[in-house]
Amino acid sequence: MLAIVARQLKNLSNMDASQVKTGLLYNPSLTDFLKDNPGACDYIEIIPDMFWTDNGYGKKNRFEPVASWERTLDWMAARYPLVAHNIGFSLGTAGHFDFEYLENLQKWHEKYSFSWHSDHISYVKLEDEHNFDHNTGMAIPLAFDREVLELIRQKIQLIQKAIDAPFLVENNVYFVDIPDQDMTEPVFLNMLSEQSGCSLLLDVHNIYANGVNHGFDCKEFIRGIDLSKTREIHIAGGNALGDMYTDSHAGPCPEGVWELLDFAVPHCKNLKGITFEFHDSYFHLLQYDGVLAELSKAKNIWIKNLSK
Ligand SMILES: [Fe+2]
Repeated sequence: MLAIVARQLKNLSNMDASQVKTGLLYNPSLTDFLKDNPGACDYIEIIPDMFWTDNGYGKKNRFEPVASWERTLDWMAARYPLVAHNIGFSLGTAGHFDFEYLENLQKWHEKYSFSWHSDHISYVKLEDEHNFDHNTGMAIPLAFDREVLELIRQKIQLIQKAIDAPFLVENNVYFVDIPDQDMTEPVFLNMLSEQSGCSLLLDVHNIYANGVNHGFDCKEFIRGIDLSKTREIHIAGGNALGDMYTDSHAGPCPEGVWELLDFAVPHCKNLKGITFEFHDSYFHLLQYDGVLAELSKAKNIWIKNLSK
């Protein structure tokens, strides 16, 4: 008995709480917060697309940084490690890959040295009668089919070849069930990470929202995922809209998200960061104290689970 206790204590002392990192997804309401609360988080996640104007495919100087946003970005880069959360790869668009977007992101990575970067298992670009870059204005979910998996796998390999930082894919939220899919979402995520070598960005709130809307057991869902591939976790809040629960990033995380985080974290042995996302229109529900409280709660859950 004493030997077991001694071993447990030794294991605890070997654990390094400095590996526990929490981050914020940047939005404009955070600019003053970050200035007033130095060291509030361990890294900042940015959506690079917010910081430039895209003048359209094939245009000279297609991606033009917005000067005032660029100044903010440089200010953040001087103080925090940056992580990129891309929205422009449109991994699920068939028949086209945006090499210009990739090249631009490659330059940004050279400048800002992203610790890792990610995009979504969805698509936002469609081919229309004029071009292939018709923007849907929202992330459209994909069918978990073998053909889709192969399409995304090939795109991930192009990204990995060009940008020397780990690439992650994020599980999506969806409001309509797609019938007759080849596999479940956890199997799709496992096969994609296995075949492409990418890591996972596990959005626990997306799982929670899907569980509420489609009536499945979120813990059972999480059990089906190879969590050793998870490098980052997203947490967020949402709200009810009619009969649905939306992924609106509305203020604090609901209790169910904290429960799922607590459930998943002990199995995420390669976790590098937990990122709190909220939409700037909901800053009034959080204020400075609320943002700090969410970060602290996430950190405490991770620390509590270090010994497991
Ligand atoms: Fe997310």
